[in-house]
Amino acid sequence: MRVNFTVNGRPQQADDVWEGESLLYVLRERLGLPGSKNACEQGECGSCTVRLDGVPVCSCLVAAGQAEGRDVVTVEGLADYARQRTQGEGEGTSLDAAQRWQAAGGTDSRTGEGGALAPIQQAFIDAGAVQCGFCTPGLLVASDELLERNPNPSDADIREALSGNLCRCTGYEKIMDAVRLAAARQSEGV
Ligand code: FES
Ligand code: FES
Repeated sequence: MRVNFTVNGRPQQADDVWEGESLLYVLRERLGLPGSKNACEQGECGSCTVRLDGVPVCSCLVAAGQAEGRDVVTVEGLADYARQRTQGEGEGTSLDAAQRWQAAGGTDSRTGEGGALAPIQQAFIDAGAVQCGFCTPGLLVASDELLERNPNPSDADIREALSGNLCRCTGYEKIMDAVRLAAARQSEGV
């Protein structure tokens, strides 16, 4: 089947999608966007988190057909998405730009380091919240959604919002620091 949907603000289509295929598979293997990570494929780790019509979801649990006609935001489009929200500008991220994102300036696919960054991405770097980085794309998408919904989250709010995202490296404290930092910068208009 063919799936037509919006990815990072631009219309896209994926062909030859079979019924059991996940949105994660389509993003990574058919659209060439490997930022969303594939770890458990069981909805347990959150490394595959994307926004679907604004809501954070585990893309490994979403059938690709369910994305028909809907809006998906991946970590590759997070910078544009955040800019659109905060500055009212940005036209989304073309598939080509999203695919080249990690090559641009030596950009790291996990953090976006070296390319255009969303404030939450910069905060993760500044707070030292990235170690192996496998969990990072999902955490960035989930954290950005939290800060959009709740600009001044309490620690309990942050823990709850990120409770579906597992990290084996950091012990979570630096991730908490990163979200607190991004929230503080956001409230100061930095
Ligand atoms: S890969 Fe989707 S939740 Fe782990
Ligand atoms: S930084 Fe390694 S799993 Fe989170």
